[in-house]
Amino acid sequence: MSGYVRVATVDDLPVGEGMAVKVGGRLVALFHTERGWFALDDTCPHQGMPLSEGRLDGETVTCAWHAWNFDLKTGAATLGAFGGVAAYDVRVEDADVLIAPRHAWPGTFPGKDLPTGRR
Ligand code: FES
Repeated sequence: MSGYVRVATVDDLPVGEGMAVKVGGRLVALFHTERGWFALDDTCPHQGMPLSEGRLDGETVTCAWHAWNFDLKTGAATLGAFGGVAAYDVRVEDADVLIAPRHAWPGTFPGKDLPTGRR
């Protein structure tokens, strides 16, 4: 799958958990839920708590510090007009988990494409 970056294997992250992965210079929160794999920028836009340490519930993650809540598919804040974080496309190929090196939701963080390459 051209342009995707391998960030983990499926055995690295049990269902119901998140972890931070570094892609280029950027920290991305990777989540494995019963509904699939998701990836958001790891830094909460409120005060910087890693979203990878947040609580998963369906297709949302709640920040561990002050409970801002984000949609795992879009990165949008779900409880108010708080903006959001960038979301990334995730694919699983064989045992590898890959993230698209681009923002799937560019509204909040116009920005930079992630560099391609293996971690
Ligand atoms: S740091 Fe995430 S809600 Fe405050």
